[in-house]
Amino acid sequence: MNAGERQAMRVCAAGDLVDGGAGVRRAARYLDGDAVVFFVRYDGHVYGYLNRCAHVPMELDWVEGQFFESSGLYLMCATHGAIYAPDTGRCVGGPCRGARLRRIEVEERDTPEGRAVFWLPDGDLQPAPADEQRC
Ligand code: FES
Repeated sequence: MNAGERQAMRVCAAGDLVDGGAGVRRAARYLDGDAVVFFVRYDGHVYGYLNRCAHVPMELDWVEGQFFESSGLYLMCATHGAIYAPDTGRCVGGPCRGARLRRIEVEERDTPEGRAVFWLPDGDLQPAPADEQRC
C-alpha cells in the first residue's frame, strides 16, 4: 500500500442505514484513546462522525444508535439537546451553536456481497482493532 492509501473498513450493508433512522456505531481509536464513531443516512447520503458532542465530550446517543431527533432532520445530543445538521455536523442550536462534530469520510460502493458502507479512516481517528469492534 502507498503511504497515501488508506485501508477502508466495511461498516454495514447500505440498506442498514435508512434516511433519518437509527445509526450504526463502531469502536474507534482517537488520539490514542477509546472512542466511538457513528454512521447515519440523511437525504439519501451516508455521513459519519466521531460520537463526541462539541459541547462536552459525551456520546450523543443515550439510546444506542438513536442520533436523530423526532423529526429525522437533525442529529441531537441527548445530554443537553444540542442539535446538529446531519450533512455538515455543524451545531445549529443549543449550547455549542456554530461548533462542529468531527466528521469522518465515508463512501458507499458495490461489493460481491451487495452495496455497502465503508469508512475511510484518517490520521488521528482509526478503527479499533477487530477484537474490540463491538460497541
Ligand atoms: S454534552 Fe452535548 S449538548 Fe451538552
